[in-house]
Amino acid sequence: MTNDRQQMRARRCVLYVPGSDTRKMEKAVTLGADCVCFDLEDGVASSQKENARPLVANALRDLNFGASERLARINAIGSGMAEEDLEFVVPARPDAIVIPKVGDAEQVKWVSDKIGELETRDSIELGTIGLIGMIESARGLLNLRDIVSADARLQALIFGAEDYAADVGATRTREGMEVLYARSAIVAACAAFGLQAIDLLYLDFRDAEGLRAEATRGAQLGYAGMQVIHPNQVPIVQAVFSPSADAIANAQRIVDAAREKLREGRGAFALDNKMVDMPVIKAAERVLARAGIKRD
Ligand code: COA
Ligand code: MG
Repeated sequence: MTNDRQQMRARRCVLYVPGSDTRKMEKAVTLGADCVCFDLEDGVASSQKENARPLVANALRDLNFGASERLARINAIGSGMAEEDLEFVVPARPDAIVIPKVGDAEQVKWVSDKIGELETRDSIELGTIGLIGMIESARGLLNLRDIVSADARLQALIFGAEDYAADVGATRTREGMEVLYARSAIVAACAAFGLQAIDLLYLDFRDAEGLRAEATRGAQLGYAGMQVIHPNQVPIVQAVFSPSADAIANAQRIVDAAREKLREGRGAFALDNKMVDMPVIKAAERVLARAGIKRD
């Protein structure tokens, strides 16, 4: 089974909120972020793990998310905490659960089966709750091919660059060459199986220019969106991952011209002194789809 990325909901940004912080959870749902993710993993101190579970479950149930997607991140498989996280979070019916540090396809299947059992127990329609996997280790990267096709619940993969760099012994730099291979490989694996790819984080949350440049690089690589940690980052990232008015107008011209030329039986033609052929037309169609413009 392959998903059609163009049919999927926009995930231009995924805003993390520590699941132990009620004030931030209340604030997060008011910011117009495409996705809000209440975190039980690394954003929560070990001493707060137990407290965070009911706080996250209640926040998922009670807060008005508006149009934001309702996500929860559980602890990693094998941490001894994932099963109990699911016991709390699944009954609160998040739109999807984020699995950190995915190393192989079996881990995705294990979570999916566990969710299935809980859906059945709680009379939730089977398959309602989606999955998003995080690739943030060398093992996860090597097993991408199996992970992307592991389970029908899987909708997207997230690149966790900080954990990945720590795992392979790389030093993070501003240019990011040390994570470029992994960053590109994840986009390609997602594209091959119709999943969305969600890019790394920009930790320096007061640096708007640096964030804009990093988000732009991710969009150019093919990512559909990016992770964020602070309210200031939401509008900046969502603007970068939305096609500009110029890009939409340009894409519309290409698609219109292509329709005419294809009717004349021509596969390649010139527009503004540049060649247009199928890959260019497909890219233009993708821009229109991301802008929510339906083809007739
Ligand atoms: N979600 C919702 N609201 C947030 C937020 C977030 N991720 N981060 C900050 N805010 C709120 C603050 O509560 C504050 O609101 P208030 O004044 O009404 O209380 C406002 O935004 C400004 O916050 P600021 O003072 O600039 O930042 P901070 O020092 O409170 O928090 C961080 C900085 C990094 C600790 C915080 O942004 C954060 O917790 N981010 C998420 C971390 C996380 O989940 N990590 C794990 C995944 S990578
Ligand atoms: Mg991580």
